[in-house]
Amino acid sequence: MDAFQYKGGELWCEDVRISELAAEFGTPLFVYSQAKLLHEFRAIKEAFAETDPVLCYSVKANSNLSLLKLLNSEGSSFDVVSGGELYRVKHAGADTTRVVFAGVGKTDEEIRFGLESNILMFNVESEAELDAIAAVAKSMDRIAPVALRLNPDIDAKTHAKTTTGKKGNKFGMDIERHNQLADKVLANPHLELRGIHMHLGSPILTTDPYEAAAKKALEVVTELRSKGHRTNWINLGGGFGLSYRGQEAPPASRYAEVILPYIRKAECRLALEPGRSICGNAAVLVSNVIYTKREGGKLFVIQDAAMNDLVRPAMYDSFHRIWPVAPRVAPPVDFEAEVQGCEPADVVGPICESGDYLAKARWLPEVKRGELLSTFSAGAYGMAMSSNYNSRPRAAEVLVNGSQVRLIRKRETYEDLIAFERGL
Ligand code: LLP
Repeated sequence: MDAFQYKGGELWCEDVRISELAAEFGTPLFVYSQAKLLHEFRAIKEAFAETDPVLCYSVKANSNLSLLKLLNSEGSSFDVVSGGELYRVKHAGADTTRVVFAGVGKTDEEIRFGLESNILMFNVESEAELDAIAAVAKSMDRIAPVALRLNPDIDAKTHAKTTTGKKGNKFGMDIERHNQLADKVLANPHLELRGIHMHLGSPILTTDPYEAAAKKALEVVTELRSKGHRTNWINLGGGFGLSYRGQEAPPASRYAEVILPYIRKAECRLALEPGRSICGNAAVLVSNVIYTKREGGKLFVIQDAAMNDLVRPAMYDSFHRIWPVAPRVAPPVDFEAEVQGCEPADVVGPICESGDYLAKARWLPEVKRGELLSTFSAGAYGMAMSSNYNSRPRAAEVLVNGSQVRLIRKRETYEDLIAFERGL
């Protein structure tokens, strides 16, 4: 399903012209398709339906309240990594008894907030954290539900900065420590071991790492049960691939095919934490060309979206398709190849850093000052990682549902930029 399509020479989101949205709300602008968001969530839900999984949408990918509310109404639960994210999902009306709480540095305050919210489980990353959870639970006369995060030392073959399940990453614990901590949980009346957690990295474009993780989980659960644990949850995290380029990501059903046999054998409940694969292709970032210039033998397209709006290219060298909203040349199938009638350009933002770019040496048709560009696959880790660097107000976000348009985050103003400052 493609919610963003070129029709009659210009780009549409569902039944709305992108150019109309840019005229009404200005640029840079994140435009979301409700249909695409829900389609991707439902695809995962259907693929794993036989196990009735708890799908914990990973809030870090995009935490806009309207998106959280939509997913909540579809039966999604949530994976949170901070008190702030827990606050958001509560505000969105989530059933917190299905929420999982991850992260290597939970504070006592956040642990207390999680316990008060009756979350499903904490994904525990270290012995020190387990001790802190036990102490907070004791002080509240509660039993804290936990899952231990295993670092299975599986290479998910993704970017070094987004690999999390390899030895040497800060996440989780090795199997020896996992087993020691499981025994420690058993001995503590304020802790209950609900399950095992793993998250391998993101995005993962092959299914083998998930098969290896599911197999490992089955082994661990079997061993834990033989020692008297009543562990009945396997949480395999998020990380499902997203097609940034074309159709490179496997559908949810392929991940399900390799995971489900092990869940059946383990007779466990399954939790997953997908973020990117749900919201990534549900948005584009629309920008306006300010200038073009030729310098040093290169063509630069300077437009008003920058690394403060979408940091992924600068931070991970990631690839996002970019094409004009009303192009002179039809969009190619392969955005990485040479395109006839086009020339390579660096698409850059106004921020004072050489790393401020959305694309390098990208084949683009001629664009002029005032033309609109669309950067695709901007729904995940776009707005969520945005900043005010260079004192740039954050972009606005709109949600399209058929021909209906809703502003779901207004553009920040100059007053907003200084609103929290105190002093002289
Ligand atoms: N669960 C855990 C424990 C995670 O650490 C993450 C992502 C997820 C779930 C969700 O993964 P997803 O399904 O969205 O791939 N900013 C980077 C991605 C960082 C991912 C951090 N953890 C990027 O823009 O590529």
